[in-house]
Amino acid sequence: MDNVTAERDKLKQKLSEIRANEPIHKPVPNPLQTSLVNHLVARDAVKSKEVEEVMRSIDRGEFSPKDPYVDRPQQIAFNTTISAPHMHAIQLEILKDCLRGAKKALDIGTGSGFVALSMAKMMKGDDIKVYAIDHIPKLVEQARENIAKSHKEYLDTKKIELMIADGREGLEQHAPFDVIFVGGSVKEIPEVFYEQLAPGGSMVIPVGEYFQNLTVVHKSRSGKIEKEPVMSVVDSLGGFSPLKSSFLTLMKKSTMSERVYLLMLIFTQSITTLFTKIFKKRNLNYFILLCPIFYILFTTINH
Ligand SMILES: C[S@@+](CC[C@H](N)C(=O)[O-])C[C@H]1O[C@@H](n2cnc3c(N)ncnc32)[C@H](O)[C@@H]1O
Repeated sequence: MDNVTAERDKLKQKLSEIRANEPIHKPVPNPLQTSLVNHLVARDAVKSKEVEEVMRSIDRGEFSPKDPYVDRPQQIAFNTTISAPHMHAIQLEILKDCLRGAKKALDIGTGSGFVALSMAKMMKGDDIKVYAIDHIPKLVEQARENIAKSHKEYLDTKKIELMIADGREGLEQHAPFDVIFVGGSVKEIPEVFYEQLAPGGSMVIPVGEYFQNLTVVHKSRSGKIEKEPVMSVVDSLGGFSPLKSSFLTLMKKSTMSERVYLLMLIFTQSITTLFTKIFKKRNLNYFILLCPIFYILFTTINH
């Protein structure tokens, strides 16, 4: 009987060892995704088991319509890109220690939604939350669809919440964040980003206009900020596009007369394009001259 108990304990021990070594996140059964991650491991962009597992468990094909398994940034929509796989890997490696204990994260310029999902998968517990924001409403919708393809539970349980917002202001109503991931570049780090980072939190952000540095910011428990450029990001490696104003943001921040002027400008430009197409030989761009007249008329009537 003792032998049987000993044998059973041995088997139990073996089973728990096997379980401990099993990936928490199942790899996707796609050989192209497997090859891509193998390449990232060989290139030393993926260094840890955590990042490797997460990257094996998300099919990039669900986030990038074009050449998803090539290690380059790719166009997604509305003149925006999904970052290169090696860049995602490097950024997640930088944040992995902080993500492990994080409860709340912010993904600014979520684009495809890939990073929001990766971060949510690296955070532990049922009470975690990733706020993912972008300023293009259709892109936010697309990110939601991308995530829902294989990871709908992250949306249903509200572990990931997607929102339309101007990322240059952070997301004050849900601050502070243990982790802030910034997907677009900035000339200088906005003060609000420091303010919205929780004590003990980390942020990764591409900084610079012509020469960008991927920069890591850490806020100590006492609130002291430490900032360190970790690598330069040059074009061949895929420089980041900047966080900028969308048409909606521009409209929101404009006065009423500026809004009317903007709309008139767009209206006149559309009419001009249409007329130019109809009367093929004529270029009717002088229509644009009507805009200032409209503007003067409007402001005169308005006052
Ligand atoms: C280089 S892409 C990164 C996308 C994402 N990290 C990924 O890999 O799929 C930059 C993103 O920032 C977004 N963006 C640009 N300006 C923004 C702003 N002011 N507020 C929020 N998002 C912005 C763009 O729409 C785009 O999706």
